[in-house]
Amino acid sequence: MKKNAPIVLALDTSDLATAIDWVHATDGIVRVYKLGLEFYLNFGHEGVRAISDSTDADIFLDLKLHDIPQTVSGAARAISNLMPRYLTVHASGGQAMVQSAVEVLGNTKVTGVTILTSLSEADVSSIGFEKNALQSAVGLAQVAVSGGARAIVCSPLEIVEIRRSIGLDIEIITPGVRPLDNQASDDQKRTMTPREAIDRGADLVVIGRPITSAWTQGSQAMRERAEQIASGIL
Ligand code: C5P
Repeated sequence: MKKNAPIVLALDTSDLATAIDWVHATDGIVRVYKLGLEFYLNFGHEGVRAISDSTDADIFLDLKLHDIPQTVSGAARAISNLMPRYLTVHASGGQAMVQSAVEVLGNTKVTGVTILTSLSEADVSSIGFEKNALQSAVGLAQVAVSGGARAIVCSPLEIVEIRRSIGLDIEIITPGVRPLDNQASDDQKRTMTPREAIDRGADLVVIGRPITSAWTQGSQAMRERAEQIASGIL
């Protein structure tokens, strides 16, 4: 059992040196560092290596792959030597697409993204989903797991239903969480505290700005903010 808190810290910055500084400021507190598409497109393999060389924590490569199986297979193979602990793919790409990533990745947990938390019910409907966001997310989680995904990304509002549907062996990872003293800020619409998300069955919570915004007050302030949030879920 790791002592670090079950936090995935989103290193959402377009400056590599800043991302490395954030890792140093929070190392030993959070369990996973998330590198998104913007990071990967800016800094590529070298950038990912620079982060993984800076920490023993796990790397979550959030590329949200979505294409035909052969293309996703090639993309997964292209990043396999980076050995991230997690790689995201869109569950809506279908079982065969998820499986195509699983087949070329060894220790990386292919992670199925269900419904983006930025989508409203109206958006979900206009895209063409017949069911509401919750039911669609449950269905997508099942698709991902049937393709061999070992983790799922979903809204905190969907944790309970998805856990019931996919069992205890699959990790549930949820963004859209806000500490109580942070509820009013940023662009998050429907939020839950990290404690509530963990209590509902999330294995990891994704947190960005509630921690990284403390960087303007310096490294120590950021560390203290991370420790404060971590202490609420340890
Ligand atoms: O909002 P915050 O800065 O904590 O976001 C951290 C990460 O969570 C971002 O990298 C983004 O990918 C993800 N996120 C999300 N849904 C939102 C807001 C952020 O999945 N509504």
